[in-house]
Amino acid sequence: MDTKRRDFLKGTLWMGAAALAAGESAARNLPAGEGMMAGYADKPFKDLRVGVVGLGRGMAGVSGFTLIPGGRVSAICDINAARRARALGYIASKKRPAPKVYGDKGAEDWKRMCEDPEVDLVYNATPWELHVPIALYAMKCGKHVVTEVPSAFTVDECWELVETSEKTKRHCMQLENCCYGESEMLAYNMVHQGVLGEISHGEGAYIHDLRSYNYAAWNEAKGNGGYWNYWRLRHNAVHGGNQYPTHGLGPICMDMDINRGDRFDFLVSVDSLQAGFHETGARFKGASAADQWRRSLKVKMADMNTSIIRTVKGRTIMVQHNVGTSRPYSRINLIQGTHGVITDYPLRIAIESHNFDEKKTAELREKYKHPLWKQAGEIAKKVGGHGGMDFLMVLRLSYCLQNGLPLDMNVYDLASWCCLCELTEKSADNRGRSMDIPDFTRGAWKTIKPLGLVDVDAAKMGLKA
Ligand SMILES: NC(=O)c1ccc[n+]([C@@H]2O[C@H](COP(=O)([O-])OP(=O)(O)OC[C@H]3O[C@@H](n4cnc5c(N)ncnc54)[C@H](O)[C@@H]3O)[C@@H](O)[C@H]2O)c1
Repeated sequence: MDTKRRDFLKGTLWMGAAALAAGESAARNLPAGEGMMAGYADKPFKDLRVGVVGLGRGMAGVSGFTLIPGGRVSAICDINAARRARALGYIASKKRPAPKVYGDKGAEDWKRMCEDPEVDLVYNATPWELHVPIALYAMKCGKHVVTEVPSAFTVDECWELVETSEKTKRHCMQLENCCYGESEMLAYNMVHQGVLGEISHGEGAYIHDLRSYNYAAWNEAKGNGGYWNYWRLRHNAVHGGNQYPTHGLGPICMDMDINRGDRFDFLVSVDSLQAGFHETGARFKGASAADQWRRSLKVKMADMNTSIIRTVKGRTIMVQHNVGTSRPYSRINLIQGTHGVITDYPLRIAIESHNFDEKKTAELREKYKHPLWKQAGEIAKKVGGHGGMDFLMVLRLSYCLQNGLPLDMNVYDLASWCCLCELTEKSADNRGRSMDIPDFTRGAWKTIKPLGLVDVDAAKMGLKA
């Protein structure tokens, strides 16, 4: 590990206002191109064996890989017996072979699953604190790994994932399902066909009222129950800035070809006051230890965090995070070019026009529907999962691995998007000071080719609607 980097990040150095003001770079000195994972493809996995750990959100992986021809859930892992039983029941109901079961031997049993020779890909959908340890261990065991969002929380963790992915030549992808949403892929298609002209600005967000989820006691069936061991509330209590930046940001990065011709340069970030979580906690008036803890908990997370990133080509991206107030759900999904704008919630498109027009939006939506949605959108909607995007993400991941293709999102995307957790917090803690964003590609962003069409051959895969 680069001790200079660690000192800079963890020691007293970074606290120095002068260093922050100067936007001192946290970049590594690794030579560009060393073990480059952009464009990397492994051998085709015709029979793709997947081990899923964390069987709450991990059920998106269980259902996806159970339904996709050539995919198979060969192992599952969760410390909770009811959740293991639910996953086993689902796989049996689809008449697929029973997977090996892990998790019954305690909190580190996921290690045995990572070591299992019958697992090619580890699908990591655990609480946040386990994202990095499991991803690192899986790669060191020779497994490709995909991890839920955010896959890492500090710049240092991001570098460690980059280094390990390069060293082991294992994919390390973030499961950013929002990149596969219908309007996000429509925008991707329109941007890359040049319909919006030159792109200068984007806006994304995670605005989702999660007060009840954060404060509720965990409930296996989920329903309106909360997160296991209050993992999300515990994290939000001690961190400001934007700790969930990737849902709104990921699709905009795809539109702007970030790390493929442009890259993040710096950001500024500002936190609002905190009131929503404190009000929610105060509602727990009982004498139980849980109630006392919830009502007295001091929360650092702001009701609203607003960050602005500038890219080296001069584009700007505004990203917001608000999970603590009453407000309709939104990821904003705005992308602005010289010829027009697309924005969401609800979807509106204006090309060379001063007004949004419902009829025109509907026409453009049909005309520029992304080929992935044309091919597999109906199946995806039937399978479900955030309107179908969960299934399309797994479908495309499976297609790439089964056909020996590079993945759509690589470890550099993961690192660039996730390092915002630490950098937005540091900026917000220091009156919105400018923070340099590391170039995890070490210069390779200048030559890495844009992604191109993100597509599958559904018929070749044997998918039936
Ligand atoms: N991409 C999306 O749209 C989306 C949606 C929801 C959640 N998520 C992400 O998914 C992840 C999980 O969220 P969730 O809502 O399922 O949370 P959850 O609390 O409902 O589930 C977490 C699961 O992990 C299990 N677990 C905890 N410690 C474990 C260990 N040591 N070994 C094995 N299993 C363990 C728990 O028993 C539980 O079943 C988070 O990272 C979250 O951010 C993403």
